[in-house]
Amino acid sequence: MWVVGLVGSPRKGMNTDTLVSQALSGARAQGAEVEKIYLSDLSIRPCQGCGKRPPGGYCMFRDGMEEIYRVLEGADALVIGTPAYYGTVSAQLKLMIDRCNCLSEMVPQADGRMTFRTRIAKRKRALFIWVADSSRDPACALQVMRLWGKDANVELVDTLIVTGADRGTPARKRPELLQRAYELGAKLVAGLQG
Ligand SMILES: Cc1cc2nc3c(=O)[nH]c(=O)nc-3n(C[C@H](O)[C@H](O)[C@H](O)COP(=O)(O)O)c2cc1C
Repeated sequence: MWVVGLVGSPRKGMNTDTLVSQALSGARAQGAEVEKIYLSDLSIRPCQGCGKRPPGGYCMFRDGMEEIYRVLEGADALVIGTPAYYGTVSAQLKLMIDRCNCLSEMVPQADGRMTFRTRIAKRKRALFIWVADSSRDPACALQVMRLWGKDANVELVDTLIVTGADRGTPARKRPELLQRAYELGAKLVAGLQG
């Protein structure tokens, strides 16, 4: 089992990174091979909405998304963490999400209407971690993630919603929160084992 953590915060070692690491530790304890990717380290160009799909590829651009497409095709599960930025996900994560628009294609239904279908064969389970300071409502972020999940063939099976991350106690000093992230990571893999 291959579990990949995607960190949407540019701040290494801070709240989001800490909780993604904890979840990955839980997954590793269940026997998974884990990997962590900092989206900030990847050079990802913003989607241009060109609608052009090169043969054998998902996007006209060749950049840091190649690594993400590899993950989306091969991983068994994902741990996706993002800080709340203006009530939703970080720009780092949103860049990645927008570049998944061409992962789906239009196909006709039996009644003639058109529908979208993902081109990513592998279904993946995901834990979504949203780390806010004063915001309390993750609805906007969750809507973005669920829409993306359809194109990327990702099912959000669990969410960890964190508040008071900056002005309150940081994640690394909240043992119950660390434990919860660890357990959710373990559960992600246990779900794969049936
Ligand atoms: C550009 C920006 C926008 C932010 N917007 C929000 C917000 O809408 N709601 C909120 O609770 N916190 C907001 N924050 C605070 C972060 O979500 C919070 O500090 C979080 O802990 C950062 O995660 P990190 O420690 O993993 O980087 C914002 C921070 C930045 C830099």
